[in-house]
This record gives sequence, C-alpha cells and structure tokens, in this order.
Amino acid sequence: MPENSPESPTVPWTATVLTLFPEMFPGPLGASLPGKALESGLWALESVDIRDFASNKHRTVDDAPFGGGPGMVLRPDILASALDATATGGEDEALIYLTPRGAPLTQSRVRELSALRRLVLVCGRFEGVDERVIQARELEEISIGDYVLSGGEPAAVVLIDACVRLLPGVVGAPEGLVEESFETGLLEYPQYTRPNPWEGRDVPEVLTSGHHERVRTWRQEQSEQVTRGRRPDLWQRYRDRNKTDE
Ligand code: ADE
Repeated sequence: MPENSPESPTVPWTATVLTLFPEMFPGPLGASLPGKALESGLWALESVDIRDFASNKHRTVDDAPFGGGPGMVLRPDILASALDATATGGEDEALIYLTPRGAPLTQSRVRELSALRRLVLVCGRFEGVDERVIQARELEEISIGDYVLSGGEPAAVVLIDACVRLLPGVVGAPEGLVEESFETGLLEYPQYTRPNPWEGRDVPEVLTSGHHERVRTWRQEQSEQVTRGRRPDLWQRYRDRNKTDE
C-alpha cells in the first residue's frame, strides 16, 4: 500500500473486515451518507473471507472448545493467517475484534479511530475466537452494547458508520456534529418542524419566538433534563466534569 501524507491522502480511510460472511458488506454502508461517501472515494471498504485461509479441503475454520461446552470456536491459526495477510502492522492501523466481551464503544474512541488510516475488524461467529490469537495479535476487543448479536458483522457496520460520518467531507455541516448527543456529554434536545400545530400539539413557543438566546437556554435545559432522566450515568459524569472545570 502506498504511503500517505496526512495532507494529501492517496488512499482514504479504510475499513478491512475479516468475516465468514463477506456478502454482508457493504450492506447498509452502501446506502445514504456512508454509501455516497464510499462512492466518492472518501473512504474505502474491503471484506476478507476468513474461510479463504482455511487449510483443509473442507475449508473448516472452527473446532470444539477445549473443556467442553456448546458451540464452536474460531481456530487461532486460521484467523492469524487472515490477519497477517491483511494487517500492515503500522501505527496508523487498529486491529479490532468485535465481541460482547469487549470494552463498550464510546464516541471518544470513535473519534480516535476515525483519525487513523485503517481499521482491521474481526467479526466472530460461533462461541467466539481462540483467546490466544487475541493476545498474540494484540486485538482490541470492542462491544457495541450489552446485548448479544449473532455475529460481529452488524457491530462492524455500526463502528464503521460512526467513524465514517466524522471523516472530513462526509457530513455537509460539520458544526452540527458538535452539538450532538455524546459530543457535549449530554443527550440531544428535542427537535420540531412544520406543521405547527400538529394533531393539536403545539411546538414550544420559545422556538418560534426568534429569540436566539432564549432558544439556546431552553435547549440546554432540555438536554440536561432528558439526560438526568434517561441516563443517570452520563448525567453524573457531566456534573463531575463541569465541577472540575470551575
Ligand atoms: N458480537 C456479538 N454481540 C456483539 C456486541 N454486542 N458487540 C460487538 N460484537 C458483538
């Protein structure tokens, strides 16, 4: 792969997905905002079929877990071959394994990952992958939430989507990104548009007042209220942060 300089990237931000279901990509990433950006070359997507690295004629990639138990485990030798053939080992690359055992994905990690040059994303199936390959290739384990998917692919789609929308040129009005949930530490305030009224419900009067400062204050209060009610964890962190800032 040619070397890039940050000023003139010849190869855009790239997601390389290692999967047993390459046909699941681009999937939703081929539509809407990420799809348009993909088409115009603002980012690139590669999917690699892990099964291409199987060594026997049946193309077996998994085996029973040592110690017994249900399901099958992805073999370390096969996954390592797939990783070694795709990862460059460069500083500007992250090797990620998507798993419900991983660290929860946050907007700040998304921001960091979108600033790299390339992500190599391992999607597991079955009961998981052999622990030794996670350690040997120093995979970062990431979860997209406290629920179990049937495989890592939808989680890879989520992670890629979250990164792509932060790439330069992808979102038309980047100032909009700052006010969003998680960037400020608060959830977003509610939005309204025409018609007004609708089904007997009025748009809050302040929003039609033309009074920018009142609108700003109202939105801030709404953000605080909704965060306090729905996400006490975020609310606590926000309060702590603003305390130390004073
Ligand atoms: N694979 C299965 N469930 C997952 C989750 N919640 N996050 C990331 N990868 C997964």
